[in-house]
Amino acid sequence: MPIIESADGSHTILSDIYNVTYHSKHGAITETEHVFIGMGLHWKALEKNEISVLEVGFGTGLNAFMSWLEAERRGWKLDYQSLEAHPITVEEAADLNYPKMLDAPTRSSDFMRLHKAAWDQPLELSTHFTLEKKLVRLQDFLPDRTYDVIFFDAFAPQAQPELWEEAIFAQLAQAMNPGGGLVTYCAQGEFRRRLRRAGFTTERLPGPPGKREMTRGVLGH
Ligand SMILES: C[S@@+](CC[C@H](N)C(=O)[O-])C[C@H]1O[C@@H](n2cnc3c(N)ncnc32)[C@H](O)[C@@H]1O
Repeated sequence: MPIIESADGSHTILSDIYNVTYHSKHGAITETEHVFIGMGLHWKALEKNEISVLEVGFGTGLNAFMSWLEAERRGWKLDYQSLEAHPITVEEAADLNYPKMLDAPTRSSDFMRLHKAAWDQPLELSTHFTLEKKLVRLQDFLPDRTYDVIFFDAFAPQAQPELWEEAIFAQLAQAMNPGGGLVTYCAQGEFRRRLRRAGFTTERLPGPPGKREMTRGVLGH
């Protein structure tokens, strides 16, 4: 699939299945830093430093990689599970410029460990970060545990409406710890109404560059 440079210089990929990019064209790293690391992990880290994460859409591994690096910097312990239905290849991952752009060129091999990790097996990559990638469609995922934070990073509702159905959010609500939060770049009104009907309280938060707002849905507040 074609690699594209986003506005902050970091790469993203154009999906050949859905014809949309994996990240914001206004900056892939900038988006991950703001939406998922900032509004997801830092928000939950105000309360606890052992955090369980469920990601919807492992994609390029950028969210996972930046979460790992941030966990090391902050002394957190992350238990990170990520769902993916159409993985990119190891060769495609090797062409991405994330380690260099994140000033972590010595961590290229760690970035590739994320991609080479076997599916459906937890792997302790460091004392700060355990990864389990699950090769499953979100629609077929039956959670058997609960999480503190959900990174809802599916392609946009226009591209993949089936992943934004109320039933999906009702199921994810069952998989959240009390006080847990689902964060996403999406700020659509209909999406937020579905999230509320599924039991979440929604917060409008400032979005990353190029987006006025993003959403955090919190359970049990
Ligand atoms: C916006 S991209 C995710 C970007 C990713 N979080 C990253 O850090 O690069 C959406 C991802 O969802 C995956 N996907 C598409 N359909 C899916 C489904 N039904 N279940 C789970 N993942 C799916 C795509 O293959 C793609 O990797």
